[in-house]
Amino acid sequence: MIGKWLNFFLRANAFKDFDASGFGRHQRNFIDDEMALSMKNHHVLVTGGTRGIGYSILKELYIREASQVVISRDKKNAISEISKFYKKSDKVKIDLLTGDLASYHEIIEALENRNLEPFNVLIFNAGGMYSNKILNTFGYEHTLSSQLIGHYVLFRWLMDNNLLAPGCRIIWVSCGEMYLKKLELDDLNFAQEPFDQNIAFANVKRAQVIVNEELANRYSNKNLSFFCMHPGWVKTNSLRTNSPQFFKKAEERLRTPEQGADTIIWLSSVQKVLESGKFWFDRKICRTHRFFWTKEKDMEREKLMDLLETQYQASTSIIQ
Ligand SMILES: NC(=O)c1ccc[n+]([C@@H]2O[C@H](COP(=O)([O-])OP(=O)(O)OC[C@H]3O[C@@H](n4cnc5c(N)ncnc54)[C@H](OP(=O)(O)O)[C@@H]3O)[C@@H](O)[C@H]2O)c1
Repeated sequence: MIGKWLNFFLRANAFKDFDASGFGRHQRNFIDDEMALSMKNHHVLVTGGTRGIGYSILKELYIREASQVVISRDKKNAISEISKFYKKSDKVKIDLLTGDLASYHEIIEALENRNLEPFNVLIFNAGGMYSNKILNTFGYEHTLSSQLIGHYVLFRWLMDNNLLAPGCRIIWVSCGEMYLKKLELDDLNFAQEPFDQNIAFANVKRAQVIVNEELANRYSNKNLSFFCMHPGWVKTNSLRTNSPQFFKKAEERLRTPEQGADTIIWLSSVQKVLESGKFWFDRKICRTHRFFWTKEKDMEREKLMDLLETQYQASTSIIQ
C-alpha cells in the first residue's frame, strides 16, 4: 500500500518535469551552438536505432553526417524505416546489424565479421519491457540480458579489440522509473518470485546508472567518458504497449521522440569536456536517488560488476 502511494506521489511530482512541458521549460536554457553541427569522420554505434527515440537519434546523427552502426532485431522494419530517409548512394554510411542483444555472443560474432573503425560514441539505447519471462543461452532473464549484460559485453569487446577511439563517449539510456527501485541481485531471473516486467525493467534501469558510475571509476585512465541519462516520458510504441493505462492518461503531455533524443544527441556532440560517470536529464546533471532506501551497498555494486565481467568472459569464450 505504502509502495503504491509512494509510486503515485513520485510519478505526480516527477511528471511536471518528465513531460513535454518540462522539456519546454528546460529548453529555454539550452545553448545550441555548444553542439558540433558536423560529425563527419565520427563513428557511432546506436543500439535500437530503428524505432522511437533511437530512430530520432539515427536521423539526427545522419543529418550531422556521422557514420553509424545500428543494432536491432527486426530486419524488415529496420530496412523499411531507414530507407525512408537513407539511400545507399549517400556518402554517410549506415551499417545495419540485426540481432538480439540478449544473444550477445552472436552480436559479437557478427561484429567480428565487419570492417569496423574505432567508435567515437556508443549509444546504448535499445530497451523495453517483455511481457513474459524468457531466459537467454546463459540463463539470464531477457530484460537483464539484453539491456544490461548485452550492452556491457559490447562495450568490453569493443575496448578489448581497440575499437574505442580516444575520447570515446559511452551513453546509457536509462529511465526515471529507476528512482523507485533499489538494485536487487538475489532473484534476477525470477526463480523465486513470479515474473514482473515492471520490476525487471526498473531494476535493470537502476543497474545501468550504477554500471555507468563504476565504469567511469574503473576506466578513468583510459580517455573514455561515460554518461547515463533518462529521456523523460516519450510517445513511443514501446510506452503505448508496455504501459497502456499510463499512456492513455498522459498521451497529450508526452514528449516527442525528438525531445526524448535531445540529451543523447547533446551528449554525443557537445564540444566541451563533461564530467564522466554522471546521470543526465535535459542536458543537466541530476541526482540518482530521490529516496534513501534505494541506495545500494558497495558490496552489491561489486557483485553486479563481477556478474557482468563473468558474462563477458563466458560469451567471448563461446566464440573462440
Ligand atoms: N518511451 C519512454 O517514455 C521512455 C522513458 C524512459 C526511458 N526510455 C528508454 O529509452 C530507450 C528507447 O525506448 P523507446 O521508447 O524508443 O523504445 P522503442 O520505440 O520500443 O524502441 C526500442 C528499440 O530497441 C530495439 N530493441 C529492443 N529490444 C532489443 C533487443 N533485445 N536487441 C536488439 N534491439 C532491441 C528495437 O528494435 P527491434 O524491435 O527491431 O529489436 C527498437 O529499435 C529504452 O532504453 C527505454 O527504456 C523510454
